Amino acid sequence: MNSKHQYVELSDGHFIPALGFGTYKPEEIPNSKTIEATKIAIEAGIHHIDCAYFYQVEEEVGLAIRSKIADGTVKREDIFYTTKAIEKCKDAGLAKSIGMSNFNCRQLEMILNKPGLRYKPVCNQVECHVYHNQKKLLDFCKSKDIVLVAYGALGTQRIKKWVDQSSPVLLDDPVLGDLAKKHKRSPALITLRYQLQRGVVALAQSLKENEIKENIQVPNSKTTEATKIAIEAGFRHIDSAYFYQVEEEVGLAIRSKIADGTVKREDIFYTSKPGEELFPKDENGKIIYDSVDLCAVWEVECHIYLNQRKLLDFCKSKDIVLVAYSALGTQRDKQWVDQSSPVLLDDPVLGALAKKHKRSPALIALRYQLQRGVVVLAQSFKESEIKENIQV
Ligand SMILES: NC(=O)c1ccc[n+]([C@@H]2O[C@H](COP(=O)([O-])OP(=O)(O)OC[C@H]3O[C@@H](n4cnc5c(N)ncnc54)[C@H](OP(=O)(O)O)[C@@H]3O)[C@@H](O)[C@H]2O)c1
Repeated sequence: MNSKHQYVELSDGHFIPALGFGTYKPEEIPNSKTIEATKIAIEAGIHHIDCAYFYQVEEEVGLAIRSKIADGTVKREDIFYTTKAIEKCKDAGLAKSIGMSNFNCRQLEMILNKPGLRYKPVCNQVECHVYHNQKKLLDFCKSKDIVLVAYGALGTQRIKKWVDQSSPVLLDDPVLGDLAKKHKRSPALITLRYQLQRGVVALAQSLKENEIKENIQVPNSKTTEATKIAIEAGFRHIDSAYFYQVEEEVGLAIRSKIADGTVKREDIFYTSKPGEELFPKDENGKIIYDSVDLCAVWEVECHIYLNQRKLLDFCKSKDIVLVAYSALGTQRDKQWVDQSSPVLLDDPVLGALAKKHKRSPALIALRYQLQRGVVVLAQSFKESEIKENIQV
């Protein structure tokens, strides 16, 4: 599978790529356009393709998929194709998952309570965009472990027979425009990203190569990207915290690397620190435990300028593993670090050791911790650095 993908897990254990390609098109556009556009989408890395009998292009979409399988671009099992399926298809092994479309909360409730229901719907595809964010339905779906799939996420194709032509054009929205400017992305990418960030799978239709290629770039957060690179490079211990406010992004990366077969869940050692908001409370709202009671290991600032020798000896005597953070000298965030303090990785002794051992100062600093029995954390957003650090 393509590492560009972010996946969302379905309740039946399958994973759906968070960005899907829409294939509905106006009748006046020739069907051959669909073959061309679907091939471009697959080549660009889109593996989730949405279709329906009603669109009258299933044959063309099938031809495009077959041709991209034949030329080795994708394997059949990497393509997540959605059409409108029923229980018998799943029984016959013709469909992996069953979802719904255009169901409201009441209708979903009816399905879920249907006597003899064999396969719970895993997703519900509905119109959903910044002008109609479906918050209530999304909350309901989340509570029932149903993934919401958004169509019309880019404001629809504004086909005359469906859309009042005087209604505002979503991608021209001024707030969206401001956000696009601020984040140096197009309004289309901002709207798609909005859906992914709230756990919604988004469909994006286009017949234009430049747009299709743009849409697959729906920005993964830096954390998701870096975590994926780290897992690919071989990192298996991932450290996060409620306070960092990126646990969702880290989770997306881990899930995606499980989905594409790079790792198994049991191979990932994930350490977190829950926020006080998540701690159990007594009837008066007082937190029952404090973070000390919940600690399994002892994670502290520890590096060559603060080697925690006394604490390390104590931990060893009590059979507690010490985990070093800021081992590379921290990210030197202005909020926490006096900018005039010496830069750890520029330390001359470290430099001399690095030269002697033909390694970088970062590798020397990490190796120092491992050699003294300390578990060490290393942060980076840069692919080259992440790949270097795993060489310790
Ligand atoms: N289950 C249902 O009842 C249902 C109903 C409707 C749709 N759907 C599914 O959802 C899919 C998507 O919804 P939709 O077809 O309504 O359209 P959409 O994805 O909301 O919007 C498509 C429009 O966005 C524009 N666009 C695409 N990428 C862009 C980019 N990077 N920058 C600027 N503009 C961009 C395209 O304009 P251009 O003209 O410039 O290419 C196209 O007109 C459908 O194709 C279909 O598969 C399902």
